[in-house]
Amino acid sequence: MTVREKLAAQSHRLGGTALYDWDYLVQEDRAHRLVYTDPAIFEAEMTQIFGGTWTYLAHESEIANVNDFITRRLGLRPLIIVRDAEGKVRALYNRCTHRGTTLCRWDKGNSKSFQCPYHGWNFLNNGRLRGVPWPDGYAGDMRDPKYNLAQVPRVESYRGFIFATLNLDALPLTEHLGPIATVIDEWLDRNPGGRVVVCEANRFRFKANWKLAYDNSCDGYHVAYSHRSLLETENRFAGENAKGMAYYRNSPDTQPMYMRYTGRGNHYKDKRPNLEKRPGGLWALESAHPGMEHYEADFISRYGDRAFSLLDLAGSEPVNINVFPNLSLLGNHIQVFEPVSVDETNAIWYGTMIVDDGSIGADGVRDINALRMRTQEGFPNFGEVDDIANFEQIQRGLFAIEDEWVYMHRGLGIPDRVKTNDDGTITAPATDEAFMREHFKEWKRLMQTRANLAIRREP
Ligand code: FES
Ligand SMILES: [Fe+2]
Repeated sequence: MTVREKLAAQSHRLGGTALYDWDYLVQEDRAHRLVYTDPAIFEAEMTQIFGGTWTYLAHESEIANVNDFITRRLGLRPLIIVRDAEGKVRALYNRCTHRGTTLCRWDKGNSKSFQCPYHGWNFLNNGRLRGVPWPDGYAGDMRDPKYNLAQVPRVESYRGFIFATLNLDALPLTEHLGPIATVIDEWLDRNPGGRVVVCEANRFRFKANWKLAYDNSCDGYHVAYSHRSLLETENRFAGENAKGMAYYRNSPDTQPMYMRYTGRGNHYKDKRPNLEKRPGGLWALESAHPGMEHYEADFISRYGDRAFSLLDLAGSEPVNINVFPNLSLLGNHIQVFEPVSVDETNAIWYGTMIVDDGSIGADGVRDINALRMRTQEGFPNFGEVDDIANFEQIQRGLFAIEDEWVYMHRGLGIPDRVKTNDDGTITAPATDEAFMREHFKEWKRLMQTRANLAIRREP
């Protein structure tokens, strides 16, 4: 038993959540404000959720070569995600086993070993302690495995997406993802060779709880209101409601788009059925971007009939795929939510590029990626700021202590509106809050479960 577990077992301890009634705090139609504001709940989430279930860490293209590393977090735990000297992907705790300082202070790099900046202990990138300065000052055996870096015991990838959990009893990743894996497949398979690589990111930090971002990830109810200025900008030079997400403007629930909950907190909003199924159908939705007319004319002259299906690769894929608790594939972005504190969160939008699989050629891929970068500048810059303003204002609103509940009952109790499919997935109109009710059930399940959490070290 760790010291932490011993303390947690003392249910009278002030500050813990052992006495919390989760079924009262999260009900079918509403959640209590404390879920977003209570530091003790946040602390419990950093173990029960970020640790207790599979959490997205990074994309394999960010550590493509042997000895590549990046620094990330699992909840608040600092990690080094590394492809070690043998090519194995590991999630090392970025925490020196001597006195606990972070070992690696870089965002990314390539190194066979990490030397602690404090007293110089040196660790191989498989986590083993390689050596310490002036070892004759130590009486014991410094090869004891307890001095090797802690690591996350389970790290698995799904088609390039690296996830990790401390939960030894968690299902294998692919089983855990279940039906959302098929939607991730579709998102990838539209790209040449069925893959993308990550480029740099738009980074935001907002003063609000991380769950507010996840609650919004499949929300089709807010678009016409929260993003009104974006919709107006996108459509300023176009015909009536021709561009971007204009399909939200008029009775969105009568559109063919829908939301689907696929289990384990995962869901997606599929706007693809709104589009015309033709080469260029996606490209046609893109609003004005610098250089787009030039590129379009150039593609037509170089590729003829094929030009518009290539331009579609630069178009923003109209689907939001949300993998609980911290990953959203939105348009062509990989968006990650990183909790900082109960009322502070990072939202990082990693851009993606396509790669040449021989079907387009290097010049075409370069030009598609140049355009794709322009289209990917659109949403985070002109849309995410609207959402973040809402998240911060909700956090403020929740200081109204006596007004206790937030409601998520849109669609609940209306006959035939929310459908449970044969495979157990749940489908509802795009503006329903069914996704939120369902991911809160998973949140509550995890908060109530004593998961079998562990770290490991190299022997
Ligand atoms: S804290 Fe790392 S060597 Fe001392
Ligand atoms: Fe939004």
